[in-house]
Amino acid sequence: MDRIRIKGGNKIEGIIPISGAKNAALPLMASSLLTEEPLTLSNVPNLEDIRTLADLLEQHGVFVERHLDKAEITFTACEITNTRAPYDLVRKMRASVLVLGPILSRFGKAKVSLPGGCAIGTRPIDLHLKALELLGADIVLEGGYVLASAPCGLKGADITFPFVSVGATENIMMAATLADGETRLINAAREPEIIDLAACLTAMGASIDGIGSDTLVIQGRKLLGGARHTVMPDRIETGTYAMAAAATGGDVLLKGAQPEHLVAVTDKLTESGAVITEIPGENGGVRIACQRGGLVGVDVMTEPFPGFPTDLQAQFMALLSLSDGASMITEQIFENRFMHVPELMRMGANINLHGGSAMVRGVKALTGAPVMATDLRASVSLVIAGLAAEGETLVSRVYHLDRGYECLEKKLASCGAEIERIED
Ligand code: UD1
Repeated sequence: MDRIRIKGGNKIEGIIPISGAKNAALPLMASSLLTEEPLTLSNVPNLEDIRTLADLLEQHGVFVERHLDKAEITFTACEITNTRAPYDLVRKMRASVLVLGPILSRFGKAKVSLPGGCAIGTRPIDLHLKALELLGADIVLEGGYVLASAPCGLKGADITFPFVSVGATENIMMAATLADGETRLINAAREPEIIDLAACLTAMGASIDGIGSDTLVIQGRKLLGGARHTVMPDRIETGTYAMAAAATGGDVLLKGAQPEHLVAVTDKLTESGAVITEIPGENGGVRIACQRGGLVGVDVMTEPFPGFPTDLQAQFMALLSLSDGASMITEQIFENRFMHVPELMRMGANINLHGGSAMVRGVKALTGAPVMATDLRASVSLVIAGLAAEGETLVSRVYHLDRGYECLEKKLASCGAEIERIED
């Protein structure tokens, strides 16, 4: 298995182009199942998770044309040969359950494997299933699969989510676009990726009101058509490189980043001592600069958007490990999202866990070490720690990084990092 070797200590300085957002691209790809006409997505990142979902769509019968040189993929679901999403593909990536809503609403039946647990928690899909039942679907769990049927089609309904779920909002919003009548989603997620999906569905002919708010009102249509859509820039990739720059006392322009997607993050980075500037224009984005040793501890709590994202918690912890003073990090979205803590401690971080909170007492320096992590964001937090540490860090299980970061080593190396992939 490949590893990443980092010789720490260099400042991250330069320009990093931000890729299309993985978490926006995945539901957008699933939405292609709602129409027999082609859906062309541009600015699609070249990532393992994208390939996994494209494989799943292909096995459903979707025609997938990849134009990798243009970061563009066209999906045509004119003929669906199979409404079953098998365990082998769904277990690789939870987001595969996003095919459930679209297949069920267009074809009246779907059989989708339950995703099972994952490294960051149990992550059930009960909200998705309850909402589909409210839309009139019959749901049976059998042999590890969800068997969903709605032979006469889904019917619009009022659905109040008991708590915010990004995936459930996306799945049900897609299903409701082809339901009969009006659906209201109350306490819906407001993440920018949901807004991106709603914009694409609207371009396909869907009628969605309240986009960007916590109440979405969808008028079902008989048919949707094809569209072209550009995937939004990746706010989590942006935040990750911002934190790499701050942790190393660097200065980067994150080209193409959208500052309005990152307010909670840039507020915390500013509070911690970084200087953030919005650069307008086509070649603009977000610039972040920080003095080496200039960070101070801050408290942070993960929350649904517009709060601080759970997907940047691990990276922020790596940075706060090197700040002056103490910080309290509270994880409120997932119950088991601190797997990076023991690895950061092996690099010299001073962290104490108390249930869902981590007390981080800043240290003067981290030292390089062989490390590994069990999920995508935990892995990249170790890369940030390695960039800021003294000496060499070897990060194993690089396949986690390949799921979510396009050209990670290349982007960091172009900004002065000593980083390379060792192929085993
Ligand atoms: C998405 C993101 C993920 C991010 C997360 C929270 C994608 C592909 N993934 O994941 O990177 O960390 O949002 O911002 O976009 N839950 C239930 N029952 C459900 C659904 C969710 O209990 O039916 C729980 C989850 O276990 C979790 C919380 O609700 O504790 C939020 O999960 P959710 O927002 O659904 O996350 P995902 O859509 O899976």
